[in-house]
Amino acid sequence: MTEDASAVGHDRLRRLMKRGTDFLGCEVAVLGGAMSWISERNLVSAISNAGGFGVIACGAMTPDLLDIEIAETKKRADKPFGVNLITMHPMLIDLIETCKKHAVTHVVFAGGLPPAGSIDRVKEGGAKLICFAPALALAKKLIRSGVDALVIEGMEAGGHIGPVSTSVLAQEILPPLAADIPIFVAGGIGHGGLIAGYLEMGASGVQLGTRFVCAHECIAHPNFKKAFIRASARDAIPSVQIDPRLPVIPVRALKNREMENFSAKQIEVAKLLDEGQVEMAEAQLQIEHYWAGALRRAVIDGDVESGSVMAGQSVGMVKEEQSVGEILKSLMDQAASALERRSNQL
Ligand SMILES: Cc1cc2nc3c(=O)[nH]c(=O)nc-3n(C[C@H](O)[C@H](O)[C@H](O)COP(=O)(O)O)c2cc1C
Repeated sequence: MTEDASAVGHDRLRRLMKRGTDFLGCEVAVLGGAMSWISERNLVSAISNAGGFGVIACGAMTPDLLDIEIAETKKRADKPFGVNLITMHPMLIDLIETCKKHAVTHVVFAGGLPPAGSIDRVKEGGAKLICFAPALALAKKLIRSGVDALVIEGMEAGGHIGPVSTSVLAQEILPPLAADIPIFVAGGIGHGGLIAGYLEMGASGVQLGTRFVCAHECIAHPNFKKAFIRASARDAIPSVQIDPRLPVIPVRALKNREMENFSAKQIEVAKLLDEGQVEMAEAQLQIEHYWAGALRRAVIDGDVESGSVMAGQSVGMVKEEQSVGEILKSLMDQAASALERRSNQL
């Protein structure tokens, strides 16, 4: 079966993505999902310059570091890009101010419901706000609070994950809400045929992370990229919760020694809780810092055994290093080809 779509498929694809591309101000409605440490100036500008929408991962950065990262990305990209902020970051409001200073056009909130006042702060600066919605009721609540677009991300994704699959979230959330607000679907997307399906269900676009890790322009360590190219879908497993009192958000990563270390870390933090040495919020923050450090060891230092190789199940579809342009082109060709086949069957 050929994946070469003619103008008919591409034209239909453009029309289905129009709401998303208008909202993002780019050519293809594909967000490069923020990935801590690696969604920085190089990958983000490459995605935006290739027609997609790059998003800087602020992660645990200070406002000063974010300031530099945005300025450096602007030097490299002549197209719009976004900034992903973690809502539990203790300096969230200062980070929003840094985005305002640079007139960042789109802010993405990840990691939980936005704290009071933060939505207004983003919108005062004129930026559009995109939030993750992990369930239908929360999606409705976020829309009422004034967010401009949603990302629905299923448990097939790499990094921190919710409990529900992408296909179920899409069926629950797209039919009732897609007419009200742009919705981008994330988690487990590795082939354009699936992008076509979500667009036909009413999505305005998609968000991919795993598929961009092996881009030439991504600074991930060669060992990290090699682990991706070798892995199959079943190697990307969720972390296990050891102590039910410690509400850790599961993380999907490639199976390795680090997954065992995480169990030991949970036992250590649970003990601190028992002894009253830390409060629950501090315990959760310690877990998050642990992940940030573990990911850095793997993705920057190249220690893929005792670091965390966060990856989604679509890792099995990552077969080689490619440029961002090639990745986006193959996804768009596959999507257009799928749309064309369907229209020919009518
Ligand atoms: C290595 C890695 C790091 C990630 N770090 C973050 C992050 O810092 N903030 C965030 O909101 N999402 C993060 N994600 C999730 C991505 O932004 C994206 O939503 C997800 O990768 C989409 O699913 P996919 O991996 O199946 O393509 C990360 C994903 C990966 C693979």
